Amino acid sequence: MTTGIDRLSFYTSRYYLPLDVLANQRGVEYEKFRTGLGQERMGVAPPDEDVVTMAANAAEPLLRDGGKDEIELVLFATETGIDQSKAAGLFAHGLLGLPSTCRVVELKEACYGGTAALQLAAAMMAGRPGRKALVLTADIARYDLASPGEPTQGCGAVAMLVSANPRLLAIEPECGLHAEDLMDFWRPNYRDEALVDGRYSTRVYLTTAEKAWADYVARSGRSIDDFARFCYHLPFTNIARKAHERLLKAAGRHPVDPQQVEHAVAEGLAYNRQTGNSYTACLYESLACLLDGCQENLEGRRLGLFSYGSGCMAEFFSGIVQPGYRQVLLTEHHRRLLAERTELKYHEYEDIFNLKVPRDGWNYVFAQYRTGPFRFGGIEGHKRRYERAT
Ligand code: HMG
Repeated sequence: MTTGIDRLSFYTSRYYLPLDVLANQRGVEYEKFRTGLGQERMGVAPPDEDVVTMAANAAEPLLRDGGKDEIELVLFATETGIDQSKAAGLFAHGLLGLPSTCRVVELKEACYGGTAALQLAAAMMAGRPGRKALVLTADIARYDLASPGEPTQGCGAVAMLVSANPRLLAIEPECGLHAEDLMDFWRPNYRDEALVDGRYSTRVYLTTAEKAWADYVARSGRSIDDFARFCYHLPFTNIARKAHERLLKAAGRHPVDPQQVEHAVAEGLAYNRQTGNSYTACLYESLACLLDGCQENLEGRRLGLFSYGSGCMAEFFSGIVQPGYRQVLLTEHHRRLLAERTELKYHEYEDIFNLKVPRDGWNYVFAQYRTGPFRFGGIEGHKRRYERAT
């Protein structure tokens, strides 16, 4: 019996800043962002949208037509935590009206947390047809204004139903791992913005991709030709090309054929180009993009997935696309979400960035912005208050 992703839904905030506007403001050539990094827009979360609302807004379309009673596990992966104690998943569990006979927990290891959640959920759902886990991945990427990381900011969430006999992607048991204690990107508890040694982080990402891939090859005996497409963790989309080149070189493909690289990765990049980094959700946003957009029928084909979390933890794993997968995709919904966002002016982006929510628990009510069905209404007596958007 197989286990894996039964359905998947992506969500991002209803606002974005075009990166030509940012480039102009920072006195940088737009081509650096567009071609050099592979980014065109960055998603900006308004004050009444956080990881809880984004995750619940991602999950809502999956649960609209029932099936809530089958869910007995909610794993919420994020590095934009909203509380040091209570799991963000419990807020989402309440908003979504999930059964009380359910395990709910939050996980963290930078961007890798989403993959840890998916693998744990798959292991716990193995051999249990009829039961489901809800994996929620959501993040808001923030760096200092005018820092090199700024154009890679973004936000997004992906919700996945994980079960036995999945309809989308059966996860294979083999995986390749690499863990190492290092400081390439981190966010101390007293900061809202991440600290990062940007170029070092990129080097580490690429070398750990090679190491995780080598471990996967050693464990599985497979070669690069056994895969139809590859999805990578995407802090910025160009990194997928660089990472795939490394895998091809490791497979002895010298010189690397750029068309082979494009064929392997290009169809998974369009959504992330428009949202920016969504940390834990990135890889699964790319997977949604590939499945939604790939013209070739991927039924029965193997996908390679590379997940990276700073600090660092990396995993290469694979899955087989299931027969009939197109029937359970939310392609039109995803495309509408991206097409119908509101463009921000530069000063509106900076106003949102600089808005300081009281840290002393003092009562606070947020102005209503555009969101999905759920919004973060405010804080009362140190308690976050979520509500349905009107
Ligand atoms: P930078 O250092 O300012 O940029 O910031 P650069 O000088 O390296 O240029 C970037 C690319 O643009 C280069 O391409 C340039 O040549 C090119 P490359 O040589 O690498 O192929 N370029 C141009 N192209 C066309 N026209 C031009 C032009 N000018 C330059 N005019 C950096 C880049 C990624 C360091 C920065 O954005 C940053 O610090 N980002 C945040 C950290 C990050 O994203 N790291 C990625 C790996 S770590 C990771 O993925 C984990 C993470 O998601 C967090 C987590 O796990 O939780 C971040």
